[in-house]
Amino acid sequence: MALALQGLTAHYLATSTVPLGATSRALVHAAAGGVGQLLTQIARQRGAEVFATVSTEEKAAVAFQAGAHHVILYTQTDFATEVERLAGSRALDVVYDSVGKDTFEKGLALLRPRGTMVLFGQSSGPVAPVDPQVLSRGGSLFLTRPTLADYLRGPGEFRQRFNDLVTWWTQGNLKVNVARKFPLTEAGVAQSFLESRGALGKIVLIADKSL
Ligand SMILES: NC(=O)c1ccc[n+]([C@@H]2O[C@H](COP(=O)([O-])OP(=O)(O)OC[C@H]3O[C@@H](n4cnc5c(N)ncnc54)[C@H](OP(=O)(O)O)[C@@H]3O)[C@@H](O)[C@H]2O)c1
Repeated sequence: MALALQGLTAHYLATSTVPLGATSRALVHAAAGGVGQLLTQIARQRGAEVFATVSTEEKAAVAFQAGAHHVILYTQTDFATEVERLAGSRALDVVYDSVGKDTFEKGLALLRPRGTMVLFGQSSGPVAPVDPQVLSRGGSLFLTRPTLADYLRGPGEFRQRFNDLVTWWTQGNLKVNVARKFPLTEAGVAQSFLESRGALGKIVLIADKSL
């Protein structure tokens, strides 16, 4: 079950919001997080060139392990400058941004004409309102703010996405890293751990005492 929410999210982002392929260049922020690791793996599986951001060296190793081609420590290096150095100016097809406030504007400026900004979270805080002219000036850009429920419309869609995930997982093509397990009674401790940015993957809450 550790695969469900984050896996389904990574699945719809990489296969439906922007279906990645062999010529895609994608930036995945927070690539060592729960969704980030899964999204990086699926993007790589689909042949995309993956640029990843993370906050620490330890997380950089995790992002490389997940399949990222380029990993940038955005706490030490300006990620936009580094992506431009690696890929050129306005070279990305898609930016998958779950960080929000701290990364959104710079990410938009990295997109190629008609590229897509996928803002799917706001771990650093909400993004300020966007003037649509910014999308025009950036090269007819697309901006979407997707949520999982809209990509699970009916049991058929859920089944298809979940079947893919389980198939990839059983074939060894998708790894789920459980960072830590907490009993449900320690949900507050789990929340603090999540906010600490220390988790390298999924945090699992368990309702019984079998830990
Ligand atoms: N729209 C959807 O359908 C959907 C579905 C599921 C989750 N989400 C969203 O996706 C995001 C990632 O979820 P997740 O389950 O993968 O979470 P997670 O494992 O906790 O990863 C979040 C990552 O965000 C990064 N981060 C950057 N700034 C941060 C800050 N100020 N405080 C805390 N973390 C910060 C951290 O990575 P670094 O330390 O490397 O920066 C952290 O590992 C969340 O915002 C969540 O709400 C959206």
